[in-house]
Amino acid sequence: MFVLAIETSCDETSAAVLHTPDPRTHTGVASRRPPAGSAEKSASGTRTSGPRPPEAATEILSNIVLSQDEIHAPYGGVVPELASRQHIKTITAIVGEALTRAKVGLEAIDLYAVTQGPGLIGSLLVGLSFAKGLAYYHKKPLIGVDHLEGHLEACFLENPAIAYPVLGLLVSGGHTALYLMEEPLSYKLLGKTRDDAAGEALDKIAKFLGLGYPGGPVIEKLGRNGDPKAFPFAVPRTKDRSLDFSFSGLKTGALKLIREHGITKDHARLADFLASFEEIVARTLVGHVRAAADQVQPRSLVLCGGVARNTRLRTRFQEFARQAGLDAYVPSPKLCTDNAAMVGAVALKRFARSPGPSTDLDLDAFAR
Ligand code: KG4
Ligand code: ZN
Repeated sequence: MFVLAIETSCDETSAAVLHTPDPRTHTGVASRRPPAGSAEKSASGTRTSGPRPPEAATEILSNIVLSQDEIHAPYGGVVPELASRQHIKTITAIVGEALTRAKVGLEAIDLYAVTQGPGLIGSLLVGLSFAKGLAYYHKKPLIGVDHLEGHLEACFLENPAIAYPVLGLLVSGGHTALYLMEEPLSYKLLGKTRDDAAGEALDKIAKFLGLGYPGGPVIEKLGRNGDPKAFPFAVPRTKDRSLDFSFSGLKTGALKLIREHGITKDHARLADFLASFEEIVARTLVGHVRAAADQVQPRSLVLCGGVARNTRLRTRFQEFARQAGLDAYVPSPKLCTDNAAMVGAVALKRFARSPGPSTDLDLDAFAR
C-alpha cells in the first residue's frame, strides 16, 4: 500500500510517499525494492540488528522538504505568519513533486498522514486542511500524527528491528525530552526541558552573535576547528534527581562569557567559543541519557530531532553507547530535521495495528 504524508508544523513544507505491504493482506512477500535497512551498516553509520519483521518493510519512495530558512533568517527565528503563508504557496507543488518522484498517482494512494501538532497552529492547519481535502475527495483514511512521535519513529524507517525497550532522546528546536518506548507506539516521558530546548539555546546564541538562523548548523560549521575545551562551561545540574533538562543557565553562562571576552562574529576565538558551547550542550544531553539508561535499563538507544544532525552530539552519543554496551541508532541527517517520511512512518504503524480508520474531518491541529 502507498501512504502520502504531509508535514507543515513549523518552517518546512514537506511531503513524502512511502510504500509498505498492505497489513490487511500481507503475507511476508518481498517489498518493491530491497529494504533500506537491510545492510549491516547504513551510510549514516547507524547499526541495524538482524532481519526486519515483514510488517515493517517500508520504503521511502520520496521525501521532499522545502525549507523556509531564507525567509526567516533576517528575523533570527521563525515568524509564524510568514511561515503559514509560505506553506500555502508551496504545498501543492511539494505534494506534486513527492508523487512525481515516487512515480505514483493520487489514485494509487491508500492512506493519508498529516502532522496534527505540536507546532505553529497556522502552519499546521495548512497541511491538515490539504490532507483532509485529498482524503475526503479520494475516500481514503486519514491519520493525524503527533510530530514528536514522528521524530522518534524516524529511526525505525532505516532500522526496523531495533530491540525494545528503547530509550529515546529527542532534541529539536522546540523540544528536548527523554522517552522510554517499551513496545511499538508506546512513549513514556521520562524527562523534558524546564525552559529552553537545546536547539533553541543554539539558535539564541547564534542570533545574539549575529551568525544567522537556524543556529545549530551555523555553530557546527563555524566551530568545527575550534577547541572544545577552550572556554569553561560547567554541565548544568537540576537540584533534584529528576531527568528534566535545563538549558537557560547554560545560555546565560554563554552570554556572560561573550561579554567578558568580547566575543563577536569576527573575534579570533569565535571558533573556540562555539566549539566549547556545542560540546557542553552535547555532554549535557548525553549525561541525561546515561542517567536515564541507569534507571530504565533499555536494550537500545535512539537519538532524534533536528539537533541530532550535529556531528559532535552524534559522536558523544555513540561513545556512550559503546561504553554502555548498548546498540545506538541515529537517523540519517535528512530524517533528523522535520520531514514528512517520519509522519508517514507513524501512520503506517498505527494503520498496521488497526487497519481501516476513517477520514475524520473533525481532526484538529494542536499547538502543544
Ligand atoms: O526537529 P527540527 O527540524 O524542528 C523542530 O521540530 O524544532 O529541529 C530544528 C532544530 C533547530 O534548533 C536547529 O538549529 C537544529 O535543529 N539543528 C542543528 C543542526 N541542524 C539543525 N543543531 C545542531 N547541529 C546541526 N547540524
Ligand atoms: Zn521537529
